Amino acid sequence: MKYKACLFDLDGVLVDTAIYHFKAWRQLGLNFGYQLTEDQNEQLKGISRVESLDRILGWAGVQASEKEKSKWLVEKNEHYLDLISNMNPNEILPGVSDFLSQIKKEGYLIALGSASKNAQIILEKTGLIKWFDAIIDGNKVSKSKPDPEVFLKGAHALGVKPEECIVFEDAQAGVEAAKKGGMKAIGIGEASVLFEADKVISTFLNTNANSLLKF
Ligand code: BG6
Ligand code: MG
Repeated sequence: MKYKACLFDLDGVLVDTAIYHFKAWRQLGLNFGYQLTEDQNEQLKGISRVESLDRILGWAGVQASEKEKSKWLVEKNEHYLDLISNMNPNEILPGVSDFLSQIKKEGYLIALGSASKNAQIILEKTGLIKWFDAIIDGNKVSKSKPDPEVFLKGAHALGVKPEECIVFEDAQAGVEAAKKGGMKAIGIGEASVLFEADKVISTFLNTNANSLLKF
């Protein structure tokens, strides 16, 4: 077996938290009279909390002090934490648990590579945590995707080489990060958006790991 590890993004790959991020950012924007659109929310996928706020302020044409920005980051996250407080295993995306079970049986190592600083809570609430040999989240990286740092640290934590890793990503920035890191990338979503990925699937539902992981 050439590939030894599978590295998963969290939001939009294993669970669908985009709606919670959207609600919390939209509410936050109202502080400065701005209404975030769904299209703009798409562009925030995979992007860190700090960078997301900077983008929103840019779209809104708002200049804010560092103090104000820090206050808004806390406010957004408190709202987000409140929205995810009732997350449970039902919110695992279709086919994900079965896919994780297949690759575990095949002997692949499994790591998380997420920009989210709330990844641990979400993995615990959904029960997904049991599958992971390593967790690299937003608390462990200094550079946002498309920088490959999060995935390189994941490979390192698992003790494998980047070229032995396959990354699963729903965001363009994440696919770019995987490719920059010298890894294979499987996109979850639409091929027209994730055109840099080596393969694209729309869902894990009824996905056979053996054939998907053949390159
Ligand atoms: C990514 C999401 O996984 O995590 C982004 O796709 C989000 O939308 C980022 O901004 C950071 O998340 P958190 O939970 O640290 O605010
Ligand atoms: Mg994602």
